[in-house]
Amino acid sequence: MQELTPKEVVAALDRYVIGQEDAKRAVAVAIRNRWRRLRLPEGLREEVAPKNIVMIGPTGVGKSEIARRLAGMINAPFIKVEATKYTEVGYHGRDVESIIRDLVELSIGMVRSEQTEVVRDRAETLTEERILDTLLPYADHDFVDEPGSESAQRRHRTREKLRSQLRAGHLEDREIRLTMPQKSSPVTAIATMVSPGDMPPELQDMFERLVPDQQRDRTMTVREARKQIFAQEAESLIDREKTIQMAIRRAEDSGIVFIDELDKVCGTETMTGPDVSRQGVQRDLLPIVEGSTVSTRHGMVRTDHILFIAAGAFTQSKPSDLMPELQGRFPIRVGLGDLGEGEFVRILTEPDNALIKQQIALLGTEGIELEFTEEAIREMAAMAHRANEHLSNIGARRLYTIIEKVVEDISFYAPDAANKQVVIDADYVRMRLADIMQDEKRSQYEL
Ligand SMILES: Nc1ncnc2c1ncn2[C@@H]1O[C@H](COP(=O)(O)OP(=O)(O)OP(=O)(O)O)[C@@H](O)[C@H]1O
Ligand SMILES: [Mg+2]
Repeated sequence: MQELTPKEVVAALDRYVIGQEDAKRAVAVAIRNRWRRLRLPEGLREEVAPKNIVMIGPTGVGKSEIARRLAGMINAPFIKVEATKYTEVGYHGRDVESIIRDLVELSIGMVRSEQTEVVRDRAETLTEERILDTLLPYADHDFVDEPGSESAQRRHRTREKLRSQLRAGHLEDREIRLTMPQKSSPVTAIATMVSPGDMPPELQDMFERLVPDQQRDRTMTVREARKQIFAQEAESLIDREKTIQMAIRRAEDSGIVFIDELDKVCGTETMTGPDVSRQGVQRDLLPIVEGSTVSTRHGMVRTDHILFIAAGAFTQSKPSDLMPELQGRFPIRVGLGDLGEGEFVRILTEPDNALIKQQIALLGTEGIELEFTEEAIREMAAMAHRANEHLSNIGARRLYTIIEKVVEDISFYAPDAANKQVVIDADYVRMRLADIMQDEKRSQYEL
């Protein structure tokens, strides 16, 4: 994958997130700065600290959505966590470090699949040979045909015939017997009691080494066998140690951690009850964000250059309520604004996954040709906006309930509908929503 320029990152985000230009730009620049840093001379490179970002904005305006979409598009180890996950009692210190361990695992996965591409041709050749060996086994292992003999030539011809059948895909469903190593890992057994992330890495390793590789005969189709043998062959062609070294480097230099709901670990000054544990999470996060070394099962990982992007609504608290050290580590603050009627119209219609597109596609499976008039869409946006003003402001999330209410009946009757052409106009929207909007009690429950 190509490294994206800031413009390209923004353009890719535009496909899903409406507005919020400042946040998109800040994130895009921060990501590009990783790439820039790696092109600096060694000494300077060490000095450049990542420009960590906090995205601040009310609920439902696209903070998490930006993170979610970023995850899919950048060519770097990227992990998204909720700060609140780390509040529970007994989940301190070590558990926050598990963020970094997960990041490394992700990075290993990335590097390994790149390495697999490098050895793909060779591994595919080896795989084919092994499948042919299984399809045409030697009857007796002690007996090998004299090279050049009549029988050896016959064997060779048969093998080549099988090879062309195999390549033509004629043997995919043929069943063969394979001896495969089997890992019956006690780690998984234990994992049902303790999640592996909570287990000290040394212990995890020890458990894995305790389990001998078992060999087991299995019958499977050629199609299935090819996948398994390929995985095995690729694995043996890849230098494991090098992969891990590369992956750790990549996590250290390009890794990105998105911490969502940062405001929720922001206690008020009173410092009682849960606030204490919230402060605890901040204290645990600090060394990782400031730069420290975390031990993982694959080795030590330095966090100095990992980019952190945080997000929070900060309605009950302010970024200035965070521990001062943590504030200093998030120098870039970007605000995400409230969404208005105009944005709602665009959110309903424009993104690749827009709600209107989804409804049309869903009902399309029933043979219904659903259509929303422009006025209907404007009406829904207006209603959503009003509901946000009168009830509570939940941002674009309001659109979900609004649209569900509007299509409720159509959706219910769709399978038996005689008329397959359905047009939703402004009157229909009003008809569906007006009563509810007028009745405060009902709207509290239904919108
Ligand atoms: N700017 C936007 N463009 C497109 N869709 C949006 C936008 N903002 C919100 N949405 C929609 O609303 C949903 C909720 O938004 P999101 O999860 O980003 O909220 P948030 O800002 O993280 O709020 P919270 O502070 O409650 O976590 C998203 O899944 C998305 O479908
Ligand atoms: Mg969110």
